Amino acid sequence: PVLVVDYGAQYAQLIARRVREANIYSEVVPHTMSAADVLAKGPAAVILSGGPSSVYAQDAPGLDGDLLEAGVPVFGMCYGFQAMVRALGGTVERTGLSEYGSTRAQVSHQDSTLFTDQPAEQSVWMSHGDSVTEAPAGMRVTASTSGAPVAAFEDDERRLYGVQWHPEVMHSTFGQNVLENFLRRGAGLEADWTADNVVDEQVAIIRETVGQDRVLCGLSGGVDSSVAAALVQRAVGEQLTCVFVDHGLLRQGEAEQVEQDFVTATGVKLVVVDARDQFLGALAGVSDPEEKRKIIGREFIRVFEQAARDVVGSGDDEHPVKWLVQGTLYPDVVESGGGSGAANIKSHHNVGGLPDDLQFKLIEPLRALFKDEVRQVGRELGVPDEIVDRQPFPGPGLGIRIIGEVTEHNLDILRRADAVAREELTAAGLDQQIWQCPVVLLADVRSVGVQGDGRTYGHPIVLRPVSSEDAMTADWTRVPGDVLAQISNRITNEVAEVNRVVLDVTSKPPGTIEWE
Ligand code: XMP
Repeated sequence: PVLVVDYGAQYAQLIARRVREANIYSEVVPHTMSAADVLAKGPAAVILSGGPSSVYAQDAPGLDGDLLEAGVPVFGMCYGFQAMVRALGGTVERTGLSEYGSTRAQVSHQDSTLFTDQPAEQSVWMSHGDSVTEAPAGMRVTASTSGAPVAAFEDDERRLYGVQWHPEVMHSTFGQNVLENFLRRGAGLEADWTADNVVDEQVAIIRETVGQDRVLCGLSGGVDSSVAAALVQRAVGEQLTCVFVDHGLLRQGEAEQVEQDFVTATGVKLVVVDARDQFLGALAGVSDPEEKRKIIGREFIRVFEQAARDVVGSGDDEHPVKWLVQGTLYPDVVESGGGSGAANIKSHHNVGGLPDDLQFKLIEPLRALFKDEVRQVGRELGVPDEIVDRQPFPGPGLGIRIIGEVTEHNLDILRRADAVAREELTAAGLDQQIWQCPVVLLADVRSVGVQGDGRTYGHPIVLRPVSSEDAMTADWTRVPGDVLAQISNRITNEVAEVNRVVLDVTSKPPGTIEWE
């Protein structure tokens, strides 16, 4: 893989995505990983990300010179660029000429690896207080800006490259070209990481891992679990049984849709389990988000265990159900604290929410992928568009969209409000533009309203329409006012318990997409 060393920037994930967009596989590793461990992963190239520190700060994360001497191509960006300079013996200074935002860079495109086939002047996105004033010995300086005399350097011999700016962000007009020039020309990598290769590779791995055993897959009807199921079905066919859990936290019409769309298209074996009482019983009296997530994660597994016993009970016992397929994605892994030393933001039900006494071994064929990549893999596998293009819906369902206790009563209110919002957004033709729109019930909050001639004391409903590329970051979607008005009118008229509809206008970060 191409390893992106994360110097604590929110940009590291984005860099990995950009590398993958060039059809080359990439992963993020923390800067705390030693050079020896990074090299032990056999990287085809290493990219050093930007970061919030100054290379002079006391606790500034360092760069082990060994990484630059191993013969592995290295590309430093922003902080990573300056860290290279420090390690290689150039000069970084606080010149007082900081640059933030769009800047013009003069690049020497002749005799350059990074700037081949690009204009001599281009817009680049900068974010630096310190500047490199003297390039390390042996480095050819190939770009400059008014604030950064040394804004890029290259050494084809040692295959070391760097730029002061952020080529991964859209505002760097030729950023992707610069990155691809590094990958293809500098590091000599082939663009062979494509959806069909991912399918072939995963199918082979799954066959090898599973052997003759039986496999269960929790199917939610969403994109991830459907694509994971389709992959495993391609790999081991009849050995797979899918389980759809009706945990009582579903939206209107959800269970029916899974049968209709997925089973019809793939012919997969499906068992539907009615576990509504089990989940609601376990969630009774619980309001804490992490507690809810853990309970839901645990109950899912309990249902799968029972389903496994039922499957074996009805078949030959020689091949036990050892494996559980989950549609875990890369962002789930990172956000549950399982990534590159990341903080635990929330326990995704299928990662941090798993019980300790899990009886299954997990197969997570999408664990390295971002959502849009999963969609490509799904298309490659022939999963129908209605599923591949579906907006994400979290496994814990409406359970994490009720702020307060999850009761039948609250679920019923939320389900009706959610159905109205979805109907109107679809009618307005906004489904493609919106990544997803959680509808959240503030069950613990009441506000005073007036309806007819009477006072009401009802609950607010929050609309959270977001636009995103991969759910790692998001912005709130500017839904037209008349569509919002229509949703608000209808919800307050049709759902008696709700007397206020509010719009969440927070990006991620600082807000997450879901409220819990
Ligand atoms: P957040 O709220 O973390 O959500 O910004 C990012 C994306 O993940 C979905 N999500 C989940 N999906 N199990 C899932 O399958 C979970 O526990 C879970 N929590 C959040 C969320 O809907 C959004 O698309």
